[in-house]
Amino acid sequence: MLLDSKVWAGMEPEREFDVVLFGATGFTGRLTAAHLASAAPAGCRWALAGRDREKLEALRARLAADRPVLAELPLLVADSAVPAGLRQVAASTRVVISTVGPYLRHGEPLVAACADAGTDYVDLTGEPEFVDLMYLRWHQRARETGARLVHACGFDSVPHDLGVLFTVNALPPGSDKLPINVQGFVRAGGTISGGTLDSALTAFSRLLPMARTARARRAVEPRPAGRRVRAVTSLPRRSRAARAWVLPLPSIDGQIVARSAAALPGYGPDFRYAHHAAVKRLPVALAAVVGAVVVVGLAQVPPLRRAVSALRRPGQGPSEQQRADSWFTVRFVGESGGRRVVAEVSGGDPGYSETAVMLAESALSLAFDQLPPTSGQVTTAEALGTALIDRLTAAGLRFSVLDPA
Ligand SMILES: NC(=O)c1ccc[n+]([C@@H]2O[C@H](COP(=O)([O-])OP(=O)(O)OC[C@H]3O[C@@H](n4cnc5c(N)ncnc54)[C@H](OP(=O)(O)O)[C@@H]3O)[C@@H](O)[C@H]2O)c1
Repeated sequence: MLLDSKVWAGMEPEREFDVVLFGATGFTGRLTAAHLASAAPAGCRWALAGRDREKLEALRARLAADRPVLAELPLLVADSAVPAGLRQVAASTRVVISTVGPYLRHGEPLVAACADAGTDYVDLTGEPEFVDLMYLRWHQRARETGARLVHACGFDSVPHDLGVLFTVNALPPGSDKLPINVQGFVRAGGTISGGTLDSALTAFSRLLPMARTARARRAVEPRPAGRRVRAVTSLPRRSRAARAWVLPLPSIDGQIVARSAAALPGYGPDFRYAHHAAVKRLPVALAAVVGAVVVVGLAQVPPLRRAVSALRRPGQGPSEQQRADSWFTVRFVGESGGRRVVAEVSGGDPGYSETAVMLAESALSLAFDQLPPTSGQVTTAEALGTALIDRLTAAGLRFSVLDPA
């Protein structure tokens, strides 16, 4: 259910804004600002934030060229290296969006400010170490203040997290009393931005600290009582279900899905998820494996990492035409009690055009939808669930059941 923004404003008079977009002048930030400009409901009080006032003014002028009313959009200047300014941003609004990455380098002070201020927070990170560190350092504080900290609100991991929720919901009634097995098969075509390249190389260069932080999290995070939840890895193979060659995809997505499964009893007493990349032709699959090994290898050597990173500068990304030619589909096969359902989530340019929609709609959902009560570090399926599926469907992404159980 959508609540009028004025109703919320009346309930929380002390906050000046409903939504603040931090990192608005970056590549994904600009696309997110454009989506907010068209999708924010009437009466929504939102603002652009970033470290450079001139860039913010130029962005506002571009937005106002299409929508003159945005000429007065408020601008907040803050730097991720200056915690006092971030505390002001967090205290000024009900929801903060951050596109300021790599998050391991820039992200924590804003998460801390939001956790302390009881402000809801969404970001685009796909960096597992960052998410685990934020859990260890800020989950408990956010539980105390009521802040919802929702990481990975872009292509990492919204289609996968919500696609699994959609698939589980499409299984026959009673499946929540039985073991459930879901497989996800990702196919995508697109180009990456400078910010994504930098963040990925940063994450690849820190495999040991990432594993250590994951272990530290596992040691303290409670497990769901009386239920079993696993993200599993399977071997490369030809899959009839995917009609493609499938490779294990060790992105953050499987971890996020497993966290949603741990939080949501509807995923049943024994839930298993396997996440794959799917490719039609064997030579492409082999090239993908070799390419991934080479990039992870280069990331281990600082001068080589810097050389690869320089191929795309921060702020740069795919052109409008490249984005228009990009696409993704994620097919899900869910099985329970001998019944099987096949579902699919699909859309246009995964990394940027659709990511900006997913991120902005996640923030609007936190601001205006009636959602289950949650707090602390929470996933998109747990905090936003079917409300976000409805929003994304209205915004043009497709969630469909291809083969009902
Ligand atoms: N997982 C996904 O699905 C997905 C998809 C897209 C992007 N991402 C992630 O999103 C992040 C942004 O990507 P992008 O391509 O948009 O990067 P980008 O173009 O380089 O934008 C980064 C933004 O961060 C700002 N920034 C940098 N240092 C700052 C500081 N000290 N204080 C305040 N702001 C600062 C930049 O400000 P200036 O404009 O002033 O330089 C810019 O607005 C990356 O981490 C990327 O991996 C994830």
